[in-house]
Amino acid sequence: MLILGIESSCDETGLALYDTEKGLISQALHSQVDLHADYGGVVPELASRDHVRKITPLTRLVLNEANKSLSDLAGIAYTAGPGLMGALLVGASFAKSLAWSLNIPSIGVHHMEAHLLAPLIEPSNAPELPFMALLVSGGHTQLVHVKALGDYEILGESLDDAAGEAFDKTAKLLGLGYPGGPKIAAKAESGDPTRFKFPRPMTDRPGLDFSFSGLKTFALNTVHNNSPLSEQDKADIALAFELAAVDTLSIKCKRAIDQTKVKHLVIAGGVSANTRLREKLSSDLKAQVIYAPLELCTDNGAMIAYAGALRLQAGQSSDLGITTKARWPMDQLDAI
Ligand code: KG4
Ligand code: ZN
Repeated sequence: MLILGIESSCDETGLALYDTEKGLISQALHSQVDLHADYGGVVPELASRDHVRKITPLTRLVLNEANKSLSDLAGIAYTAGPGLMGALLVGASFAKSLAWSLNIPSIGVHHMEAHLLAPLIEPSNAPELPFMALLVSGGHTQLVHVKALGDYEILGESLDDAAGEAFDKTAKLLGLGYPGGPKIAAKAESGDPTRFKFPRPMTDRPGLDFSFSGLKTFALNTVHNNSPLSEQDKADIALAFELAAVDTLSIKCKRAIDQTKVKHLVIAGGVSANTRLREKLSSDLKAQVIYAPLELCTDNGAMIAYAGALRLQAGQSSDLGITTKARWPMDQLDAI
């Protein structure tokens, strides 16, 4: 069964073809980073318009690269939420109308579920069920107990900023640009770990929730107290922030694993690309840490195609109505 996957929830247009026998056979990604860079963050209307421009040529590209045609498709999966409403609507209307014209099913996929499943695209990487998942992206920070496909219990989440959002805001504060995660990580390479000590929010009390806005405020105050910043100051602050964010995530993961006794932790979402996070979790935890290849950590069409394929194989599909959800809790996963 050949499935076309379409990701358009934010600032990346991602297309991919997933074959249920052969695996991932082609993928293409257009990043809008340059388009939004001048604004220091994603401009929703610009994002939607760019998805409109890229979605058709990228569909052609993935089909040509795999030597396939539209008539080979058995289903189309698209991101139905959560995300920017206009951007989601571009992918959803394209997917639905194409599926309707080909007389094949379409399936709306939850973006965070797709992130969660991305490390499983490569079968040799598959964890044992049940497992723990740490979802860390620009919009979400969640600890999810995965009991089966579609059976997710959220054990903890951020009460304010997401981890990726804190990276992005701190990078902006330091004048490092957008997206902040990779910029902070690169700058932190030359930082002095003894210079600043940032707090580890909410680790001094029980529970699995997170709070990252205090870390951002701490960064703001540190910047004010040391302005004007030299390049070394920026590197020292970037490193102190990164160490605090990574440590906080690791402490909560350790708690979640002790509590549930699962043997595997899957880390997914853009922040799971962070090398320091990967290393820290692998050294601190008893559980085996599993993550996707770098290109499948941040937004992409492959994870949508894969999650859609699993749901189509399970007999689910969406109706013809175009339903997208800007907000969509992951423990309320009715197919849409
Ligand atoms: O999953 P994603 O591509 O998009 C959302 O669904 O939000 O995640 C994007 C987030 C951004 O906040 C970005 O700064 C962060 O992931 N990110 C990183 C790294 N690469 C991307 N954060 C820390 N370290 C990285 N290497
Ligand atoms: Zn994402």
